[in-house]
Amino acid sequence: MSIVELRGAEVTYRRAGQPFVALHPTDVVIEPGERVGVVGGSGSGKTTMARLMLGLVPPSQGDALFDDRSIVGLPERQRGWLRARASMVFQDPNSSLNPRMKLRDIVGEPLRSPVLRNRGDVPEPTPEVLAGALEGVGLTAEMLDRYPHQLSGGQRQRVAIARALISDPAFLVADEPVSALDVSVRAQVLNLLTDEVNERSLALVLVSHDLAIVRHLCERVLVVERGHIVEQGAVADVLDNPQHPYTQALVDATLSL
Ligand SMILES: Nc1ncnc2c1ncn2[C@@H]1O[C@H](COP(=O)(O)OP(=O)(O)OP(=O)(O)O)[C@@H](O)[C@H]1O
Ligand SMILES: [Mg+2]
Repeated sequence: MSIVELRGAEVTYRRAGQPFVALHPTDVVIEPGERVGVVGGSGSGKTTMARLMLGLVPPSQGDALFDDRSIVGLPERQRGWLRARASMVFQDPNSSLNPRMKLRDIVGEPLRSPVLRNRGDVPEPTPEVLAGALEGVGLTAEMLDRYPHQLSGGQRQRVAIARALISDPAFLVADEPVSALDVSVRAQVLNLLTDEVNERSLALVLVSHDLAIVRHLCERVLVVERGHIVEQGAVADVLDNPQHPYTQALVDATLSL
């Protein structure tokens, strides 16, 4: 059984009234617990692919499945299971965290969603549960009454990770999770992410420009160029011995930094 599957899935946006294919028909299968890096240049379609896997953007062709079930066209009231099983950490915690909400409300939000409450198997957002969620990411319960602006950038991304994990998902998308952070805290946040992914045996899609991060966290990598997967395979094979000119250029660019 796979956790995520794209079957000939294509994404078309409209730009200035014209259709624009951001992801050409693509096949991807992700097994439970598998960690897959998605690399490629800016605008190549990485975030689009990730959003498709979470049901946040519909395919214009083909199918997207989660837990072997199509998520295309699912009405909101049937999305509870998907919301609980799949989470996302975005690039920039400054824009992904609501500045007017206290941390207790931000972190507890996934547990308050009616579609999740109806499932009956997410915990109540009690003070103990919320404190535990913050402590699990290296923050303290005393911070529950703070607002995002009262935290550092690294702490904010820890809050985003706590929120993503509080529903105990099986699949996590991390889209450039440390690139907006100060270099000095990147390693700490990456280590936190690595520990959580290991302990929870999460399936992971990690979108990153940074090939070193993909090596560190992933076993498999997809290389995307202009909406096509141009190369894929085990991280060591693809990054040590790239076959496609685009992958070679990405690897060379990293070596020359
Ligand atoms: N909502 C949208 N409407 C129209 N075009 C979009 C939309 N979102 C993305 N695009 C376009 O689709 C293409 C792929 O975008 P996407 O965000 O998936 O790229 P990316 O690989 O994540 O890039 P980056 O590394 O810069 O984050 C780009 O050309 C982008 O301009
Ligand atoms: Mg992106």
